[in-house]
Amino acid sequence: MARQTWSIVCLAALLAVVAGAGEDDLVKKVPGLIFESHFKVYSGYLNASGDPGSDRLMHYMLTESKGDPANDPLLVWFNGGPGCSSFSGAFEELGPFYINKDGETLFENVYSWNARANVLYLESPIGVGFSYSQSNPNYYQADDNQTLYQNYYAIQDFFNRVQPRFANQTFYLSGESYAGLYLPMLSALITNDTDFPATLGGFAIGNGFMDVKGLTNSLVLWSNYHGRFSLNDWATLKSGDCCTKSNPTDDFDSCDWTGNLDSKNGIDYFGKDSKCGKILNPIVNSSVYNVDPYNFYEDCYNGSFITYFGKPRRADYVARSTEPNTAKLFNRDSTDPFLGYPCWQEDYVAVYFNDPAVQDAYNINPVWRENNLTFADCNMNTYNNYHLTYNNMAPFFDTIIQNAPNFRILVYNGDVDTVCNFLGDAKFIDGVAKTHDFTPAPSRDVWFFRNAVAGFNQRYTSNDTTFLIDVLTIKGAGHMVPLDRPGPALQMITNFVHSAKPDYTDPSLINPVAQPAPLLNTPTPGPATTVVPETTTKGAMSTLSVSILTLLGVLGYNFL
Ligand SMILES: *[C@@H]1O[C@H](CO)[C@@H](O)[C@H](O)[C@H]1NC(C)=O
Ligand SMILES: *[C@@H]1O[C@H](CO)[C@@H](O)[C@H](O)[C@H]1NC(C)=O
Ligand SMILES: *[C@@H]1O[C@H](CO)[C@@H](O)[C@H](O)[C@H]1NC(C)=O
Ligand SMILES: *[C@@H]1O[C@H](CO)[C@@H](O)[C@H](O)[C@H]1NC(C)=O
Ligand SMILES: *[C@@H]1O[C@H](CO)[C@@H](O)[C@H](O)[C@H]1NC(C)=O
Ligand SMILES: *[C@@H]1O[C@H](CO)[C@@H](O)[C@H](O)[C@H]1NC(C)=O
Ligand SMILES: *[C@@H]1O[C@H](CO)[C@@H](O)[C@H](O)[C@H]1NC(C)=O
Ligand SMILES: *[C@@H]1O[C@H](CO)[C@@H](O)[C@H](O)[C@H]1NC(C)=O
Repeated sequence: MARQTWSIVCLAALLAVVAGAGEDDLVKKVPGLIFESHFKVYSGYLNASGDPGSDRLMHYMLTESKGDPANDPLLVWFNGGPGCSSFSGAFEELGPFYINKDGETLFENVYSWNARANVLYLESPIGVGFSYSQSNPNYYQADDNQTLYQNYYAIQDFFNRVQPRFANQTFYLSGESYAGLYLPMLSALITNDTDFPATLGGFAIGNGFMDVKGLTNSLVLWSNYHGRFSLNDWATLKSGDCCTKSNPTDDFDSCDWTGNLDSKNGIDYFGKDSKCGKILNPIVNSSVYNVDPYNFYEDCYNGSFITYFGKPRRADYVARSTEPNTAKLFNRDSTDPFLGYPCWQEDYVAVYFNDPAVQDAYNINPVWRENNLTFADCNMNTYNNYHLTYNNMAPFFDTIIQNAPNFRILVYNGDVDTVCNFLGDAKFIDGVAKTHDFTPAPSRDVWFFRNAVAGFNQRYTSNDTTFLIDVLTIKGAGHMVPLDRPGPALQMITNFVHSAKPDYTDPSLINPVAQPAPLLNTPTPGPATTVVPETTTKGAMSTLSVSILTLLGVLGYNFL
């Protein structure tokens, strides 16, 4: 080997040590990126096992901060399911890129969470998305403990080997739904480990699955006061033996209704074949009325103004607008700019990521494809085989509170979600706070986004430490808060990761009136093959619900 080549090799090796192996994971060109974007995206694999010889590879994507990547904090994101990829969050909720209806090009989410944070998405557990086991590519068995350790090792690998520039700093965890189990468990394990390569400063859980029984019971109350029972049925529920009270003098808010319900997996419930069970079935089994369980008031829309670029791949696409920049079509003067969930969105994430050229660009190992694996938003094999081990997170909160005096927790809930309703989560946290003698703020405070009420916050603090818990609602949002209320969600999370005592109303760290970036060059829209009416088609059943319905026949819905 020539001397010069050798020294270049040495230099490269040295740089790799300093900069981290993850520099090789840089996505050199994000496929379909047609608007101006000035931050780095990395995509690659983390070692998700501590066992010698194990070859479990967890796929990650890192979107660097658009603000100050060297100083902005690291925020890790998990979707739930169990079995749903964090790419559903990345490309349908909080990430910078949403996918156009052609399945090829991207449009901008102007309220992406990487405004003032470096956001790391993990596809967890192994078997989900592009995460896989090399020796057994069809591996999709998982339970809470396996997921816990895979997440724990993968994040350590990120700090130690892949991006050591983030090591020795304070980082935060975030996630949604079933991640309400992942995050407290992972936080307990990390705060138990004094050698962990970075300091965990807190976590934010959106519409979290933390107390299965509590969520189910509060859903009965939520449902009655959102018009889902007839007066007669509510009277029957209260009069008969439907409600189990631990104390006869307790009011109906303390009822345990779960005796009327059954479950095959401990995750999804259905009404028993009894008088009370039949009344309760429609609220736990959403397929009965085709109500979108993720947002009670908003169905997906089959948008009339959706644009596309290039050659459409799908026969069923609808294109109308000649505005080439989809991001400009949404009403950002509203806190609800997307008008609900675009029916097609979930499908097109899968179209995009099943393109081999896209997989290559995101550094997906060829082995993954050679095994004929398919990318899906949610891996139903994982979901169907998942074993729920813990149905109440209180012991993990206890560990965290003992271990980490400077921790902060944000439990945020879109208040029209029925899958993980705000009331159940609020009651669960209130119980945790009482156990630990936390002091509740005397009032639940209103918080604002652009001078409009964005929701309410109940704060709990400890008299002895700076441990803080906020229980926040996002008014009008369903299960996927960053999708339904993108601006408020960004203001909320940015204040959370940047301040020891967050003021969620503070707009100063973000641009609350962000505008879409210009397109790099204006592609010519192709011909519209289907002309649809000017008004959006509301009330259409969502693809989300469709996929849920398929599943509901056997199980119920999943906790994305
Ligand atoms: C992952 O880490 C373990 C423990 O250090 C090691 O034995 C294993 O070989 C690693 N796996 C891969 C794929 O690098
Ligand atoms: C959880 O997983 C870890 C790592 O694989 C293992 O060492 C431990 O025994 C497991 N614990 C339980 C309760 O299964
Ligand atoms: C983090 O701190 C440890 C202990 O001080 C040190 O050994 C290690 O090199 C640091 N890592 C980085 C990436 O700075
Ligand atoms: C953390 O340590 C406590 C006390 O030793 C233990 O009870 C708990 O199970 C540990 N939690 C985890 C997730 O390892
Ligand atoms: C949910 O309700 C539908 C429609 O009534 C029914 O077909 C299905 O079996 C129910 N699901 C469960 C798990 O009971
Ligand atoms: C959306 O519109 C397309 C094209 O008209 C149609 O095929 C599809 O079924 C619609 N989807 C829903 C959920 O209504
Ligand atoms: C993948 O599919 C191709 C074409 O159907 C087949 O030849 C090949 O054996 C499959 N590979 C695996 C690992 O199943
Ligand atoms: C904490 O401080 C508040 C206000 O001074 C007081 O009312 C409360 O009793 C204290 N709580 C505990 C557990 O000491």
